[in-house]
Amino acid sequence: MKDKAHTAETAAAAAARLAAAGPSEEDRALDLSLRPRVLGEFVGQERTRKILGMSIEAARQRGEVLDHVLFSGPPGLGKTSLAHIIARERGVSMRATSGPAIERAGDLAAIVSGLEEGDVLFIDEIHRLARAVEEVLYPAMEDFELNIVVGKGMGARTMPLAVKPFTLVGATTRSGLLSAPLRDRFGQHFHLDFYDREELTEIVARSARLLGVRVDDEGAREIARRARGTPRVANRLLRRVRDFAQVNEAATVTREVAVGGLELLEIDACGFDRMDRAILAAIIDKFDGGPVGVESLAAAVGEEADTIGEVYEPYLLQEGFIARTARGRVATARAYSHLGRTRRGTLL
Ligand SMILES: Nc1ncnc2c1ncn2[C@@H]1O[C@H](COP(=O)(O)OP(=O)(O)OP(=O)(O)O)[C@@H](O)[C@H]1O
Ligand SMILES: [Mg+2]
Repeated sequence: MKDKAHTAETAAAAAARLAAAGPSEEDRALDLSLRPRVLGEFVGQERTRKILGMSIEAARQRGEVLDHVLFSGPPGLGKTSLAHIIARERGVSMRATSGPAIERAGDLAAIVSGLEEGDVLFIDEIHRLARAVEEVLYPAMEDFELNIVVGKGMGARTMPLAVKPFTLVGATTRSGLLSAPLRDRFGQHFHLDFYDREELTEIVARSARLLGVRVDDEGAREIARRARGTPRVANRLLRRVRDFAQVNEAATVTREVAVGGLELLEIDACGFDRMDRAILAAIIDKFDGGPVGVESLAAAVGEEADTIGEVYEPYLLQEGFIARTARGRVATARAYSHLGRTRRGTLL
């Protein structure tokens, strides 16, 4: 059912969702096929790649289990990919789950006690772990021990149960929401940043090769330029441009073909889609340039506040179209000029 509904997705619906970095069903399949498998295939994030590569190698030489790793950063930048890469580079199995999926402390205890020595336990959205579950994780991370409660009421006592040493890899889009004790138990923390134009061009070229799409350098560059610094979005745009090329019988995705496809989807030269523009327009027109709180903004554009905060805002902030102040978001001069609005004069 889901698949059918998805194929029937209209261009307008696709456009409305394109910049949103959260994965759709279709993305998940694409994520799998295009996911870099080893560190050498992972483009960009130079510092993370170097340090991670070094600690993987050092752990290998010492014959030790890799220290727990935390990845943070906006959606679609490669956190899950890196978790898989760690398991592969270490030659171990990976058990993947997510914060909200682990409902009870016992669920986590069952998962952890089923791990083999050196295995990777990947917990996505780790900031959403329940407190009681988190508490099971602390001794497991620190001493590879689970505290099992035996008995009930007055006679209840906790018994330590040893588990095999493992590597916890946590991923979060909101590292600020992680509790300090949990954050402190990670030996390494990598924050992933948006990718630059060159890196994204390389990613588009790589994905095109894997998908068997002919893209010339200028075509790849144009897609990269509009991909909001995000590999997942770059892959998504590539797929849409491929459809456009096919329908228009273009054998190669040139700059012109890329621009044609992206404009049809209402992705503008900055990579903004309708929702980005709606957000900027709302701040300017409805809230007089701001400051406006994220809740009011969400109501004005008809989007969830969390989605605005996690998906849309980071890129608008990084590109300097909005700014964060103590009283809320404000539109910057760039936002006014991008939308062709003039700022009302402030006569001081
Ligand atoms: N550095 C990279 N090089 C090449 N491709 C990449 C890179 N990073 C991400 N990708 C592509 O983007 C897709 C999404 O990446 P991934 O699923 O790892 O992101 P994520 O950070 O886990 O996102 P989310 O927060 O939504 O879970 C991958 O499947 C891969 O195709
Ligand atoms: Mg992920």
